[in-house]
Amino acid sequence: MRIRVNGQDHELDVDPSMPLLWAIRENLALTGTKFGCGVAQCGACTVHLDGQPVRACVTPIEAVQGREVTTIEGIQSNQDGDPALHAVQAAWIEKQVPQCGYCQSGQIMSAVALLANNPNPNDKAIDDAMSGNICRCGMYPRIRSAIKHAASLQSTGVQTFDPNASASATSKEMQHG
Ligand code: FES
Ligand code: FES
Repeated sequence: MRIRVNGQDHELDVDPSMPLLWAIRENLALTGTKFGCGVAQCGACTVHLDGQPVRACVTPIEAVQGREVTTIEGIQSNQDGDPALHAVQAAWIEKQVPQCGYCQSGQIMSAVALLANNPNPNDKAIDDAMSGNICRCGMYPRIRSAIKHAASLQSTGVQTFDPNASASATSKEMQHG
């Protein structure tokens, strides 16, 4: 099976029915994407497939052939050769969204997809887009606030990455584990 993840092609000798989540975490060692329920109920495993959020725990490898998978490790952009936080990541840090952090990769991936489709979502649009992502720590008000802040950052094109700031270390903590 050949899969394309974060702009890179990988050839994997795996069962075509194996969940994408297994390939991402076990074969590619991209552990930012989390296993929660395994049955499409929590959103912890959310990644993008051709830019749209999907549940990697119930998406078989064979379903992503010839398509583009993006994980939390792949949403940063490059500015003059340096990695730049996505506006959603920057907003998450500024609004101090994570508590235990376990759901946050999936939350961020859903938020990134939402803002790509709707750059200025209202409360209902946010709740509709994020309703499939469960947070056992109950950080929903901060998530909503951070999405609005990210929308503002995107609209103003604010530079969001400072390699010397603690934000960088915090981002890495949010992506790995
Ligand atoms: S682990 Fe995939 S939705 Fe819960
Ligand atoms: S921050 Fe703990 S589950 Fe969401």
